[in-house]
Amino acid sequence: MKRIAIITSGGDAPGMNACVRAVVRTALRNNLEVVGIVRAYAGMISGDFIPMDFQSVSNIIQRGGTILKSARCDEFRTVEGRAKAAENLKKHNIDGVVAIGKDGTFTGAQIFYQEHGIPFIGCPGTIDNDLFGTDNTIGYDTALNTVVQAVDKIRDTADAHDRLFFVEVMGRDAGFIALRSGIAVGAETILIPETETFVDNLIERLKQSRAHKKTSSIIIVAEGDDGGGAYEIAEKVKEKYKQFETKVTVLGHVQRGGSPSAADRVLASMLGKAAVEALLEGRKNEMVGVINRKIAFTSFEKAIKHHQKINKNLLHLAELLS
Ligand code: F6P
Repeated sequence: MKRIAIITSGGDAPGMNACVRAVVRTALRNNLEVVGIVRAYAGMISGDFIPMDFQSVSNIIQRGGTILKSARCDEFRTVEGRAKAAENLKKHNIDGVVAIGKDGTFTGAQIFYQEHGIPFIGCPGTIDNDLFGTDNTIGYDTALNTVVQAVDKIRDTADAHDRLFFVEVMGRDAGFIALRSGIAVGAETILIPETETFVDNLIERLKQSRAHKKTSSIIIVAEGDDGGGAYEIAEKVKEKYKQFETKVTVLGHVQRGGSPSAADRVLASMLGKAAVEALLEGRKNEMVGVINRKIAFTSFEKAIKHHQKINKNLLHLAELLS
């Protein structure tokens, strides 16, 4: 192995830059050359390759987004697209790739290896924390802190006006952001895709809170909840229970930006280093994660197929304490 490439793919996440830095510097210290590919698989196909040195990753550990940019790429789903990408990797003498992303990225990498034999190692990069094989994904901790800061502000105004707020957080397929941030902000209820939402139960709960003299409440809704988004659920509640003045806030992409937290910087640095070392050891088609504070490898196949399980005790904890 003489030269490796790095991509950041899928939805960006705070800490991706810290991981890029770790990959580049670990590689250079091991006498490997490193090339950054701009816009992930799209750049692999168009040949947008840039050589990386020590300096090219200076002053990025604290920056959100990704200096390598990210993009979705339908062409990479085709045999022809992947053949073009392989041609470019071969032209640049790339012997292995570190891919920071999530299941879509790893699915592409797996198929690509079967067709073209270039090994990939994945680093879990997503704010959603929905990847099997790691306790935390890069960006999750920062996103949680962003949500908590925003909801604390919403709570001030909710309290001032005695209002019920539905706050929608990201998580198209998973409720990890909703669950943990919900506990951290003291939410009345947390609605997530992993559990069924019953509006009548929710109303019952709100009535009980009122009976206990609660004048305002925060309900955290994961965007992928089966009951619909925050607007839809708020509408249903309003129809049946008019006593509360109801407001909705959708936090949206603000959750994806910002300077990474210390935890995300450290995690990203550990994972980036481990990914390069894995390529050097001849590993392939695996995602590197951290489980119980230790580096752990999970095959792409497992990381894609299995789902990180929601800790139902946390849901009970939220309800118990609200
Ligand atoms: O990064 C994952 C995620 O944040 C999901 O929770 C969300 O549904 C999705 O990205 C939104 O992505 P896009 O930028 O394509 O709207």
